[in-house]
Amino acid sequence: MKHRLLVALVVLVLVPFAIAFQGRGTPSTPAPPAPPAANTSSSTSLHTLGQQRGIDIGAAVQLYPFQKDANYRSLLAREFNLLVPENAFKFAYVHPTPEGYDFSGVDPLMAFAKDHNMKVRGHPLIWHEQLPTWLDEGEFTRDELLEIMHKHIQTVVGRYRGQVSAWDVVSEALNRDGSLRDTVWLRTIGPEYIDLAYRWAHEADPQAKLFYGDYANEERGRKPDAMYHLVANLRQRGVPLDGVSLQAHRWLDAPPNPEALVENMTRHKKLGLEVHFTEVDVQIQRGTGSLEKRLAMQADAYATILKSCLIVKNCTAFVTWGVTDRYSWIVGLTGKQDAPLIFDESYRPKPAYYALKQVLSSEF
Ligand code: G3I
Repeated sequence: MKHRLLVALVVLVLVPFAIAFQGRGTPSTPAPPAPPAANTSSSTSLHTLGQQRGIDIGAAVQLYPFQKDANYRSLLAREFNLLVPENAFKFAYVHPTPEGYDFSGVDPLMAFAKDHNMKVRGHPLIWHEQLPTWLDEGEFTRDELLEIMHKHIQTVVGRYRGQVSAWDVVSEALNRDGSLRDTVWLRTIGPEYIDLAYRWAHEADPQAKLFYGDYANEERGRKPDAMYHLVANLRQRGVPLDGVSLQAHRWLDAPPNPEALVENMTRHKKLGLEVHFTEVDVQIQRGTGSLEKRLAMQADAYATILKSCLIVKNCTAFVTWGVTDRYSWIVGLTGKQDAPLIFDESYRPKPAYYALKQVLSSEF
């Protein structure tokens, strides 16, 4: 009897989970071709609804599926009006050798965005990860690194002048306790690397909106408070900063707190700053209950974040960190299968997708 009960449990709980996670593909193990993108129940896309509410709806785009998978591209064009290269703009890719730049990853994305009337969000210019070895391991003087940083910003921002609507200029400069992170930029140049990065980005493209981005900064606490003080100080000193990027990587066991989100965004609004949610995803692996229940909780989390964005009128973009569960960075991060995005492995809209539409269609 016990044995039968166990078998029944396995079938009921694990099989739907296994089905939901099958067919995942990574660059090293190519996925089978995806089935055609499923029709959504309504012909109105997310971005059409978003634009009616004054907000851009974006997605981070990985090069591998973008190049190999026509369904990925058509879903991207259909539902989103803001394209964010997930990795292609990072230092190691665009500036792989001291004198050499390589825009072969970025250019096809820019062309696609142009053809489909999408904006592009540049991410990130100055970060401590995904640096080329020559920079990471090079021993530069302060003046040398200043020159490297200046030329890099001039070259990358200048090349796409007028084509990138917003840049994450400096990313993740803070530790969780709110102190400045020990990076090659801070160690070699000092804290003024932050001011200089914004001034040089502004010189290279005066029209692009310039953002400071970080993680674990959406609500209140030591890090969000430190970020608030950092950006308030930049604004006060006339550094050209237009907004803050709140990443919003979330888990089911740490759901977003709507009051804290609104409170945090409101204080940035009072500084005259815009807010973008830039890397939204909600992992389900740390939740409990059936897959159905987890997806419903995930939908609530997405809806809470978007609703707070609409309530505080300075929030102008909502970006998911990926297009579909078939290609998400979470598997690489946790080593476990997950389903953190709003379209499933087969490109079908999930409860989170419908929850976002519901929020965009509601008056409040
Ligand atoms: O380019 C190599 C490729 O040549 C190689 O074959 C392959 C083998 O695994 O690796 C490729 O590099 C990977 C790269 O993504 C591009 O796919 C790296 O291993 C992998 O570590 C890297 O992960 C990225 C991560 O940043 C790096 O820290 C994720 O895709 C990307 O989603 C993630 O994005 C960051 C944001 O920029 C900032 N906020 C946090 C977010 C998550 O870390």
